[in-house]
Amino acid sequence: MQKEVGALTREEAGAELAFLARRLQELDEAYHTADAPLVSDAEYDTLRRRNEAIEARFPDLIQKNSPSFRVGGKLAAGFKKVKHSIPMLSLSNVFSKEEVIDFVDRIKRFLGLPAEAQIEFVAEPKIDGLSFSAVYKNGVFVQGATRGDGSVGEDITENLKTISQLPKRLQKDGDLFAPMPSFLDVRGEVYMSKADFLVLNEQQKESHKKEFANPRNAAAGSLRQLDASITAERRLSLFAYAVGRMSGVSFQTHWEFLQALKKWGFPVNPLIRKCQNVDEMLSFFEELTEKRASLPYDIDGIVYKVNDFALQERLGFITRSPRWATAHKFPAEKAITRLNKIRVQVGRTGALTPVADVEPVNVGGVIVRHATLHNADEIERKDIREGDTVVIQRAGDVIPQIVSVDLSKRSLDSQPFIFPSRCPVCGAHVERTEEDAITYCTAGLSCPAQVVEGLKHFVSKNALDIDGLGDKNIEQFFEWGWVKNPVDLFYLEEKYGPLLRQENGWGNKSADNLFEAINHVRQGVDLDRFIFALGIREVGEMTARLLARQFGSWDALMKAMQAEEATELLMHIEGVGPVMAMHIVDFFKEPDNVVLLHQLTTLIPIHPYQTIVQNQTPLTGKTVVFTGTLTTLTRAEAKQKAISMGAKVAGSVSTKTDYVIAGEEAGSKLKKATALGIQVLSEEEFHQMLDLS
Ligand code: IVH
Repeated sequence: MQKEVGALTREEAGAELAFLARRLQELDEAYHTADAPLVSDAEYDTLRRRNEAIEARFPDLIQKNSPSFRVGGKLAAGFKKVKHSIPMLSLSNVFSKEEVIDFVDRIKRFLGLPAEAQIEFVAEPKIDGLSFSAVYKNGVFVQGATRGDGSVGEDITENLKTISQLPKRLQKDGDLFAPMPSFLDVRGEVYMSKADFLVLNEQQKESHKKEFANPRNAAAGSLRQLDASITAERRLSLFAYAVGRMSGVSFQTHWEFLQALKKWGFPVNPLIRKCQNVDEMLSFFEELTEKRASLPYDIDGIVYKVNDFALQERLGFITRSPRWATAHKFPAEKAITRLNKIRVQVGRTGALTPVADVEPVNVGGVIVRHATLHNADEIERKDIREGDTVVIQRAGDVIPQIVSVDLSKRSLDSQPFIFPSRCPVCGAHVERTEEDAITYCTAGLSCPAQVVEGLKHFVSKNALDIDGLGDKNIEQFFEWGWVKNPVDLFYLEEKYGPLLRQENGWGNKSADNLFEAINHVRQGVDLDRFIFALGIREVGEMTARLLARQFGSWDALMKAMQAEEATELLMHIEGVGPVMAMHIVDFFKEPDNVVLLHQLTTLIPIHPYQTIVQNQTPLTGKTVVFTGTLTTLTRAEAKQKAISMGAKVAGSVSTKTDYVIAGEEAGSKLKKATALGIQVLSEEEFHQMLDLS
C-alpha cells in the first residue's frame, strides 16, 4: 500500500519525488511526443497530484527536474524549432464540485477579495486535440507551431496552412475601419471530428497502415507530418480559444477577445458560456456531460477562465499553468464485461506484463478488447481471475484498466491466477525485483521476445523513427531469420528480391519506401534519440537526454563508459541513481553490446547534443526577500512575479540574499539587509525590474 503523504519520512519523500519526476517525464513524453499515452489520464493525474502534495509538504526537496516546472513533451526531430511569443502553458485539473469551489475561493484570496465577491468566468469545452499557436503579422498568417515543451515548439506553418478553417489573413467582417492587430499570436486546438476519424481509420485499414487509437492521436499524427501534403489529405478542424502576444488592439475581457476572433474568421466553439458563480459553472458542466456523446468531436472536460484580462494579469501563473484557469475533467468511463483470459507478455527489458483479454465491450464510444493488469501484485491485490465479471475503465485515450471484480458473479470452480514462474516465451527462469514488483525473464538477448521487442523499440517513433517498419514487419523479419539485431536492419536491402517473392504482399513501392526510411537513418540521428533507442534498462527518454547533455557526443559517452570510474561519472548526473547507473554500466560493459555499438555507429553518424538557451531576466537565479506592505500588489502576486522571472523567494534575509524588496513600514528584515550590505529595492524599483523582462 502507498503511504499517505503525511506519513512519509523526508527520505522517502525525496526518493519518491525522484521517482515521480522520472515517471511523469516518461508519461509526458509518451503522450506528447509519441502520441501514444501509456496510462489513463486519471492515473496520470493521480501521480501528478501526489507529486504536488509531496512537494507542498517538503518544498525544499523539490527537484530541479520537477514535473511541476514542465509542460508537454520533447520536440520531435526534423521540425524547425520556434520560440513562442509567450510560453504555451498547460492547465491544472479539478475533478469535483469541491475542487471547483476551492479553485474560485483561491482566486478570491489571491486577489485579496472577500468570499462573497463575484468573479465572472468563461466556461468552454475542453477540446481533446493538439494545441497550436498561429502568428499573424499585419493580418497575415506567418507562422504556426505546436506547443512542444511550452517555450519552444515545432514549426508546423505549412501543415496549418492546409487546414481550411484557419484564416490565412485576418478578416474584417465588413467593417473596413475595425481595429486590427499588428501582431497576433492565436492559440487553439487542432482536432479531428469523430466522423473524419472513422473515415481515416477505414482508409488506413484498407491500405494496411496502422490505425489510430482515437481522434486525438489521429489529429496529432496528421498535423505533425514533415511532409505537409500528408496533412492536406487529412481532414483536420480547429477551434481558437486563447491569445499569446498581441499588439495594436486590446480587449478588456476574454469574452470580447473571443468575439473578435470570430470576426477575424476563426472558428470559436459555439458552446462557450459566461458564468457568474460556481453554481452556473457546475450546471454548465452537467449540461455538457449530457451532451458530450452527441457532440461531433471529443471533449474531455470544461475549461473555466477568469473573464477579466486585468484580473488574469494579476493572477499570473503557478509554474506550469495559469492561476486564472483550470480544467474540470470528466470522470473516466466504465463498463462491465467478462475477462476471458489473462496473457503474460514479455517486453524488451524482459519484464513480464499480464494483459487481460476481455469480451469486447463499448466503453464510452470505444470498443475495448484488452486491459492492462500491470503486474502480479495487482492481480493478487484485486483478486482478478479468468472468467470473472469485471468493471473496466477507460479514461482519455489510453490502455483501459480493470477497476474491480464482481465477486457475486464468480463461478464456484474459479481458480486464482498463477503468475508464471518461467518466461512464457523462452522458458528461462524469472526473477522478481523488490522495488517495483516486476518479474523479469533472465534470458536477456537469448529470449526471442526480448530481441523482437528491442528491435521494435529501436525503430519506434521516439527512437530512430523508421517509418514503415511496423511491429508486424519486425516479427516477420525475425521469424524469417533476416533480422536478429539492429545492425541487420541496415543489411535488409539484400533481401529485396526474396521480400517481393513472399506471399503476403510486399510490392515494389512499399519495399522501396521501407528501404528509403531505413537509409534515411544513415544520414544521422540525434545523440539522445540514439541512446534511448538502445533500450538500456531504466533508460527512458529523459535519462537518455540527461546522458546526452552530460557527455555531449557519442565518443565522449563511450569513453566515459569504458573508464574505470564510469559508475561515479554517471552518479554525478542529477537524476541518475545507483540502480540506473548500474544498468547503464552493465550495458556498455557487455562485450556483445560493444561490438554491436561499434558496428551501429559506423553505419549511423550520431549528431552531438544541442541545448536550447533559456530566457534570462534580471532576476534569473537571484534570491529575493519581500518585507513591509506593498501598495500595488498583494504579497502573493509580488512573489509570483518574482518567481516567474526566475527568482527564488526566501522568507528571511541572509548573506545568500541578492535583493530585499521593501514596502511601507519595513522593519527588522530591512535593517538586517542594510547591515549585510544587501541591495534594497523599493516597490517602484521592483516594478521597473519587472518591466525589463
Ligand atoms: S486554454 C494558458 N482552452 O488543454 C491556458 N485550453 O490541459 C491555455 N485545451 O494545452 C489553455 N480546449 O491544449 C484552453 N478551451 C480551451 C481548451 C484548451 C482544450 C487544451 C490545450 C491545453 C490543454 C491543457
